[in-house]
Amino acid sequence: MSTTFKLDTSTSRANPTPQPMKRLTVPMIRSHKSDGKTREPLVMLTAYTARQAQLLDAHCDLLLVGDSLGQVIYGLPSTIPVTLEMMSNHAAAVVRGSYHSVVVVDMPFGSYEQSPQQAFESAAKLLKESGAAAVKLEGGAQMADTIAFLNQRGIPVMGHVGLTPQAVNVLGGYAARGRSDAEAEKIFNDAKSLDEAGAFAIVLEGVLEPIAIKTTGAVSCPTIGIGASAQCDGQVLVTDDMLGMFERVPRFVKKYENIAETIEKTVARYAEEVRARTFPTQDQTYQQKR
Ligand code: KIV
Repeated sequence: MSTTFKLDTSTSRANPTPQPMKRLTVPMIRSHKSDGKTREPLVMLTAYTARQAQLLDAHCDLLLVGDSLGQVIYGLPSTIPVTLEMMSNHAAAVVRGSYHSVVVVDMPFGSYEQSPQQAFESAAKLLKESGAAAVKLEGGAQMADTIAFLNQRGIPVMGHVGLTPQAVNVLGGYAARGRSDAEAEKIFNDAKSLDEAGAFAIVLEGVLEPIAIKTTGAVSCPTIGIGASAQCDGQVLVTDDMLGMFERVPRFVKKYENIAETIEKTVARYAEEVRARTFPTQDQTYQQKR
């Protein structure tokens, strides 16, 4: 049988499977900020499924498999119950659904805080099982040794300071951070420690804008703001929040759409047609071929 098949000659050991394009890398993201300046802000959104990743990929620099999936996908009351298995499965789906953005996966609560060794084991499992390029972990100066440990062993780390949702039981809620001078100084110093430890980027969540601006100007790696400031080196939102999947969202979210309403109205139409036997029609049924 003749074939039009042609051998792909662009592969190499470093690039063993043909890809439509080269994926961005962690060093590219890190060097996006040079001499304290970022030409164009980095775009990051959360993604939890392959199809979601496909739709976001071309528009983003980074896709974050956030542990917010605990609430968004699993209906859990917080991110505390999220497991390594959940993160690994969703991260693998997001890697399969993308070929451009750097995929970063959140380390879930309890999988890294005990010691750098525990963090290495958890992070290595996540990267091996999913194919993601980097991990993100929450916490300030107390996590600096862990970040250096992972970095020296081949695992790039994104930090996360300010409002850290995994600490909800200590913080007592999700209110903005840095209202007192002491708290503002701690957030600034935390970010500096993570930068010095080798974090390739730092999420600044729910902090007063002056802290975000001062921190962004003081750290060498890019800051990614969420409820922080447009002056950060990049921005992230929970995709389901900005698409309007939830009626109520935090103040820092801009709802770009009202997808929940669209889904609700569409499903109501479907239900009505099923009950009226007007769906399926001839167009959607199989008949004997003549
Ligand atoms: O889990 C998550 O989605 C996050 C972002 C909100 C930064 O950590």
